[in-house]
Order: sequence, then C-alpha cells, then structure tokens
Amino acid sequence: MPRTRVIHGDCLEALRTQIPDGSVDLVFADPPYNIGKAFGAFKDRWPSDEAYAAWCAEWLTLCLAKLRDTGSLYVMTSTQAMPHLDLWLRTRSTVLSRIVWHYDSSGVQARRRYGSLYEPLLFCVKDAKRYTFNAEAIAVEARTGAVRKLIDYRKATPTTYSATKLPGNAWYFPRVRFRMPEYEEHPTQKPEALLERVIRASSNEGDTVLDPFAGTFTTCAVAQRLGRRSIGIELNGDYVAIGRRRLGLHVP
Ligand SMILES: C[S@@+](CC[C@H](N)C(=O)[O-])C[C@H]1O[C@@H](n2cnc3c(N)ncnc32)[C@H](O)[C@@H]1O
Repeated sequence: MPRTRVIHGDCLEALRTQIPDGSVDLVFADPPYNIGKAFGAFKDRWPSDEAYAAWCAEWLTLCLAKLRDTGSLYVMTSTQAMPHLDLWLRTRSTVLSRIVWHYDSSGVQARRRYGSLYEPLLFCVKDAKRYTFNAEAIAVEARTGAVRKLIDYRKATPTTYSATKLPGNAWYFPRVRFRMPEYEEHPTQKPEALLERVIRASSNEGDTVLDPFAGTFTTCAVAQRLGRRSIGIELNGDYVAIGRRRLGLHVP
C-alpha cells in the first residue's frame, strides 16, 4: 500500500468498498457539522438533528469496523450535535476522553450571548485494556509558577518535580487563519498542531491513519511528516487537488 492514499469520493461508498475491515490503527473524523457551512456545492445542513445523527451513525459504524482491535477513534462535530454522537458511541466503544479544543477569535463577536470559542472532540477506543497511547510523545511543559525548580521532599530521595506533564482535556491551539503558513482555502481547516497531538499519542510510526472527511488533508499531511501511513477521503475535487499538492503528490 502506498504510504499516503487519496480517495476522491463519498466516504460511505469508499469505506464500504475500498478499505478492508480491521486494517486501520487510528481514525480522525472531522465531518460537516450540520451548521450550514459551504463546502463548494455541498450543503452542510440536514433536515433535522435526528437525520444528521443517523447519517453520522452510518459512517461511524464503518469507521469502527475499519479499526484494528487496538485502534482509536477521534471524532469532532458541533457542540450541539456532539451529545447525539456521544450517546451513540458510548454503547459501541469506550469513550476515554471528552476533549475541548478552544481558541480565541478575532472574527464577528456575539453580542447577546456567549460567543462560541470551542469545539468538542471525543477520544474513543475499541478495547479499553489494549490501545496505543504514547504519553511521553505529547508531553507539555508543567507550569508550576515557581522561578526555581520545585523539590518533592515526600520522596525517600528528594527529587525535583517533573518539568513536563500529559496535557489535560482542554486543548488550546490557534485556529488556522489567512496568512498562516499552513493556511489553505477551506472554511474549516484544522490546525496541524491539533492533529500532531492526536497522531503522536494514538499511533506509532508505520501505523495507518484514516480520515474519512479529509478536507485539505491536514491529517494525511501530518501523518506523512510523522512517518505514518494514511488514507484520506474527500468528496470535493477542489479540496482533493489542494490535498494532493500539500502531500507532494501529482495533481492531474
Ligand atoms: C470539517 S471539513 C474537514 C476539514 C479537515 N479536517 C481539514 O483540516 O481540512 C469536512 C469535509 O468533509 C467533506 N465531505 C462532506 N461530505 C462528505 C462525504 N460524504 N464524504 C467525504 N467527504 C465529505 C467536505 O467537503 C469537507 O471538506
């Protein structure tokens, strides 16, 4: 299998016909959120919350089938839709973390309610006893507020507290904005830093990462840089072309 596979098409069809069950180590799914964003001709609006949840259940079922028994699934959606996905997923997998990606906004500000400055992610595993999690690969600085290193005197031999820690479930990463080096022309491109944390934590070099809603192929680009195999599926031909260019692949 090539290290990076780009599939242009509907993820339901591609998942059913082009990807064997039990062949993927990590799925990162960032679907349309049912909030009316314009992805080219595609309309990000379902007739009801239930219709959207039913569509999500279709591709989530397929994504879970594609995962190896040790695999992990990260899912994003809107704050209003996530409760549907959470209830559905918790009966079919183990939801290990409910993560909030938060950011600042310089865009249009809400005036009569609290503006939306976060997006939720679920981190699920198939087998809560056996899954990849590389804590040391995503360690962040442990800020103690102290100028000097703090010493833990409770230990038999007093030692300094660790200077690093595992990030919690509130993640701050700036949104991708125009003029940032990674910016591509897409309304909901995710930051490479967010994907880097997900991929480093929940896969190893040589593993296969699948993104059924690749958009600008951020997942595949980061996977490629980190030595993972990847498969990205995207419906919109313009975004596929962006992805192929970003991945250093031939653009027909
Ligand atoms: C939220 S965006 C993903 C953005 C991506 N994470 C990135 O960083 O660029 C969702 C994407 O799903 C695509 N899409 C919508 N329906 C699809 C389907 N049925 N199969 C595959 N892709 C689809 C849209 O064109 C859009 O690019």
